[in-house]
Amino acid sequence: MDTKQEIKIQKEYIEKIKQIVKENQKYAIFTMGCQLNENDSEKICGMLEEIGYKKTEDIKKADLVIFNTCCVRENAEERLFGKLGELKKVKEENGTIIAIGGCMMQEKHITDKIKESYPFVDLLFGTHTLHKLPEDIYTVLTKKQKEEDIIDIEGKIYEGLPIKRKSNLQASVTIMNGCNNFCSYCIVPYVRGRERSRAPKDIIEEVQELAKNGYKEITLLGQNVNSYLRVEREKNIPFKEYHGVNSFATLLQEINKIEGIERIRFISPHPKDFTDDVIEAIAKCDKVCKLVHLPLQAGSTKVLKEMNRKYTKEQYLQLVEKMRKAIPNLTLSTDIIVGFPGETEEDFKDTLDVVKQVRYEQVFMFIYSRRIGTPGDKMENQIPEEIKHKRFDKLKELAEGIIAEKNQEYVGTKQKILAEGKSKNNEATLTGRTDSNKVVIFKGNDNLIGKMIEVEIIENHIWYLEGKEV
Ligand code: 5AD
Ligand code: SF4
Repeated sequence: MDTKQEIKIQKEYIEKIKQIVKENQKYAIFTMGCQLNENDSEKICGMLEEIGYKKTEDIKKADLVIFNTCCVRENAEERLFGKLGELKKVKEENGTIIAIGGCMMQEKHITDKIKESYPFVDLLFGTHTLHKLPEDIYTVLTKKQKEEDIIDIEGKIYEGLPIKRKSNLQASVTIMNGCNNFCSYCIVPYVRGRERSRAPKDIIEEVQELAKNGYKEITLLGQNVNSYLRVEREKNIPFKEYHGVNSFATLLQEINKIEGIERIRFISPHPKDFTDDVIEAIAKCDKVCKLVHLPLQAGSTKVLKEMNRKYTKEQYLQLVEKMRKAIPNLTLSTDIIVGFPGETEEDFKDTLDVVKQVRYEQVFMFIYSRRIGTPGDKMENQIPEEIKHKRFDKLKELAEGIIAEKNQEYVGTKQKILAEGKSKNNEATLTGRTDSNKVVIFKGNDNLIGKMIEVEIIENHIWYLEGKEV
């Protein structure tokens, strides 16, 4: 069956459920993990709201509670099991339907644990069966039986799912899914399948539609966003070019042309895929933000090799230099893991050294977490927790110190920001972000919301900058 046919069947299930559920049904959703998961949750919400479910934040009022899980690090598991413990009583009282989906469900040891310790969960669905949520809910409702819908495949692309977006200004658009890199610490390739890219036409039409509906900022998403269509090109897998789009660079250029869109961001790229054409496209496209996320993971060439990252410390730093030369006003953010097996004090110093040299705008820091099934988990020289934590604190201190200094450098500069809305803590002010993703709070009229405006930064408040309209 082709994917269009499969989606048509799901739409029929949506109609069938509408006929059997009572009015005013409510759902609560918990999303863990990355922006791709957030985007998947928007699709889950889209399907549920099409059925007629309304969103609630209160699990006690929900008829259906859905978890969209992540398994990149262990702490997500603890959070899920904690929440499930809480839900047991709620379910006993209200008969709530409980469904769990997402990356964690692709791990057998987790689904086994849920079935054994939390037998009251009604539905388990994986990353490759998200589009079948209507059918699965229908089965739970009509057969009054537990449902498990998890498959282990390379993965397909499903177009045309309903979507309920969180914002009406900023939208995420998934352009590719899966990963072929198998970094030795990472579970993603095992739970998300192989890299596959959406057709250029589908992406461009989605962004055009978003622009028509008033969206201003687009974030292109993928586990390896800048290797968009790479596998297809390398393996001669046929795909249809559209408006000359046949790579990540050409996609950026084409989206840059779409009227109404003011900003384009993308996450998460791999350093190896910053080919010259991609660097040139970032430099050339005025709407593409000059904040580039360049995951380092570790600074030591030895650790990078063990991590299977495919670059050395020197190559990474050379790439930074090359990008700095090619892209005026470039700012950089990164991901770093501390305490990977075998990481010595010397190796860790290399990480600190890269952080000092690059001076990132933002650093996402993680303590290495053993993931069952990955090569990293089988390595013998695991680092004791205490050392991992010490290194983490040291890195945090260094990175935050640099970020604080950089924030201070903003004071007195003029920055273009997209006014996103009223600020949470003070109704009298508005909030927006710079090209480099710094939050700026400023006094302004509500009619500025949704507009790109220029502000002068007048004060640095550490967690945000204060600006005034110029
Ligand atoms: N332990 C700690 N951090 C990890 N990441 C991925 N896998 C692990 C792991 N096993 C981090 C990487 C990646 C980010 C999304 O999560 O830094 O870039
Ligand atoms: Fe994980 Fe590496 Fe793939 Fe990123 S590139 S998803 S870190 S395996």
